[in-house]
Amino acid sequence: QDEICAQRIISAKKALGKRAVILAHHYQRADVYRHADLTGDSLKLSHLAAQTDADYLVFCGVHFMAEVADMLSSPAQIAILPDMAAGCSMADMANLANVERAWRELAEILNPEEVITPVTYINSAADLKAFCGEHEGIVCTSSNAGKVLEWSFKRREKVLFFPDQHLGRWSGHQLGIPLDEMVVWNFDEPMGGLTPEQIKKAKILLWKGHCSVHQMFQPQHIIRFRNQHPDGIVISHPECSIEVCKASDYVGSTEYIIKTIAAAKSGTRWLVGTELNLVSRIAEEFKSQDKIVQFMSPMVCMCSTMARIDPQHLAWALENLVNGNVVNQIKVPEHEAKLAKVALDRMLSIS
Ligand code: 13P
Ligand code: SF4
Repeated sequence: QDEICAQRIISAKKALGKRAVILAHHYQRADVYRHADLTGDSLKLSHLAAQTDADYLVFCGVHFMAEVADMLSSPAQIAILPDMAAGCSMADMANLANVERAWRELAEILNPEEVITPVTYINSAADLKAFCGEHEGIVCTSSNAGKVLEWSFKRREKVLFFPDQHLGRWSGHQLGIPLDEMVVWNFDEPMGGLTPEQIKKAKILLWKGHCSVHQMFQPQHIIRFRNQHPDGIVISHPECSIEVCKASDYVGSTEYIIKTIAAAKSGTRWLVGTELNLVSRIAEEFKSQDKIVQFMSPMVCMCSTMARIDPQHLAWALENLVNGNVVNQIKVPEHEAKLAKVALDRMLSIS
């Protein structure tokens, strides 16, 4: 059955030729990843989407990634998400109504347009990127969040960072911002559950969002590994908690994780705190270089929403294209895309 499906994908790809390009995030499951033409982390995939001239960009990732591909490609190009249910649970933790409410509440005690830069992690819906475009804000990815914060603090004294509190906290910490000047904005409570004094003192207001995959990694996983393998090296994604990031030797995006282990000496042993599909793939790949790559958690931590893009959905989307039907197109409304692109372009110009 699996092989039949793989053959359907291969045949459809052949029939489409250069008209279609398959982009896959590093977390994509192996049976889909093997068909990808272009792979990368969120930032690299954004650049690749902007550069390709294929008619169809078939995105094997999650919803916000296909939205970015749509916005950064030319208007005639079509972005497709093989399964519309492939969302990002973290992205869903912030929505426009909540963010606008936060902005209005903040306006009761300070002038946000003068003192706060809204920064949205790329893991967010297009309308939140548009919010940032409209309010002199910017988008960031896990590869450039530090640079984006530096850019923001040159312009305004505070940042509202959404939706991932962990990426915001770690990036702020790297810039030397004290932990008590980074406070969590709990969008379920009036005024984010904060006092006016806390808000006035804060440098970064961190949205109460997180990644359900990366929150599974714990400092005790690292302690156990170091006890067993004193020479072992630990590398984590910045969506992990600050305790995990602090206990790691290296912290960075998925692309950074791959490149760092690729550049390491043979004979090294690595503990990796990021999604399981990626860790399993590199564990296999680096075996030939005599590097041991271990997954950080004893639990299975997979991006279950990204895994909804399975070979069946990919085959279905491609075969429809062969037959002249576009299915599951992701199209950001024009007025939203225009503003979101302002915030995306600000990011791309500094990264
Ligand atoms: P990258 O920026 O490393 O691609 O991370 C995106 C993501 O969703 C991680 O959970
Ligand atoms: Fe979203 Fe987490 Fe999946 Fe990344 S791993 S796409 S943040 S749910």
